Amino acid sequence: MSCDLFSLASPGVSGLEPYRPGKSIEELQREFGLDEVVKLASNENPLGPSQNVLDAISVTKDLSRYPDGNGFYLKKKLAEKHNVDIGNITLGNGSNDILEMVTRAFVTEKHEVIYSKHSFAVYPLVTQAVGGKHVVTPANNWGHDLDAMLASINDNTRLMFIANPNNPTGTWVDRKKLRKLLEQIPDHVIVLVDEAYFEYANIEDQYPDCSLWINDFNNLIVTRTFSKAYGLAALRIGYSLSHQDVANILNRVRQPFNNNGLALVAADAALQDTDYIKNSIKLNQSGMEQLTRAFNDMGLEYIPSKGNFLCVDLEQPAIKIYESLLKAGVIVRPVSDYDMPNHLRVTIGLESENNKFIKELEKIMMKQTSL
Ligand SMILES: Cc1ncc(COP(=O)(O)O)c(C=O)c1O
Repeated sequence: MSCDLFSLASPGVSGLEPYRPGKSIEELQREFGLDEVVKLASNENPLGPSQNVLDAISVTKDLSRYPDGNGFYLKKKLAEKHNVDIGNITLGNGSNDILEMVTRAFVTEKHEVIYSKHSFAVYPLVTQAVGGKHVVTPANNWGHDLDAMLASINDNTRLMFIANPNNPTGTWVDRKKLRKLLEQIPDHVIVLVDEAYFEYANIEDQYPDCSLWINDFNNLIVTRTFSKAYGLAALRIGYSLSHQDVANILNRVRQPFNNNGLALVAADAALQDTDYIKNSIKLNQSGMEQLTRAFNDMGLEYIPSKGNFLCVDLEQPAIKIYESLLKAGVIVRPVSDYDMPNHLRVTIGLESENNKFIKELEKIMMKQTSL
C-alpha cells in the first residue's frame, strides 16, 4: 500500500511539531566522548531525589499489580496539605498530563485557546493536537500581558493558560493583578494557572498561591508538579486543584492508571520531607545569586526569574554559544523555539555545576572578543 500516512492523521496532529526535550547527559557523552557533563537544561532539581523517597520506593515490591487507579492515599495527603476536598484533586502523569487532559476535555476545533508569547511550549502542542485555534498574546517585558489576554477573549474562547512563573522567561504575575484578571474572566473560559515552579516563587511576598482560590472561581484550574522542587522528574507525577465538577470531567478523559505505583509512593514520601524542599529552595536562591553576579560581571543582561532557571541575553544568536558549551560538557537550553534567539536558558545547578557553566561561558566569550 502506498499512501501518505500523514494524510490519515487528524488535522491537528499532522500539523504538530513534536516537543523537543533537552539533550541528555548520556547523549552528549556519546557524541563528544566526554566523561564529565553538567546538565543545566531541563529545570530539574540538582540535589537528586530526597532520601525519604529512595527509602520508600526501595521497599515497594508490589510491581506485578496495577497501582491504585484513584491514587487515594496521595490525594488524601494533598487534600490535607491544601485544605481542600479529595474531589478537588486530579493526579497526572506529570503536570503535562493534566494540561493535555484539560485541553482534550474542554477544547474542540471550534474553540480558541489563549496563551502568551514566550510561554511554555506544551500549551501550543496540546492546543494543536485537538485542532483548537491558537491566540498568542504579545508579551510585556517578556512576561504575560494580562490586559492583552483579557482583551483577546470572545465567545469562542474556551481556555487560557497562565504560567506563573513562566518557563522559559521566569517572569511572574503578582497576586493583585492575577486576582483582578480572574474576577473579570467570563464563566465560559477555563483558566489554567500553571504553578510548576510554585515552591521557588513562593518566597516572593506578592506571589499568589492560586490553590487558595479554587472555591472562589469555578473556572480556575491550578496545576502543580513533583518534577521540580520535589526532585521527581523521572517518575512523572503532578496534580491539579479545581472545582469538583472540573475534576470529575478530567477523570473521564484520564487514562486508567495514569500514575505508576512508584510515583504514587514517591510523591507521598516527598511531601513529608519538608527539609528537602527547604534545602532545594535555599540552594536555588544561592545559585541564582551566583549566576546573576557572574552575568553582571560579564556585562550580560538576564530576565529576572522566580523559577529555578534564568534566561541570559547573549546579544548574538545563542545557538553557536550553546554548541560551544556542549563541546565543553555543559548542556543548557537554547530558546529560539520560543522566539528568543539571543537568549540561553540555564537551570540553577549545584554551586560546582554553576561554576563550570560560568567558567566555560567566560572562556567562549573571551575567545570571541580576541578574534
Ligand atoms: C511551566 C511548566 N509547566 C509544566 C511543566 C511540566 O512538568 P511535568 O510534566 O514534569 O510536571 C513544566 C516542565 O518543564 C513547565 O516548565
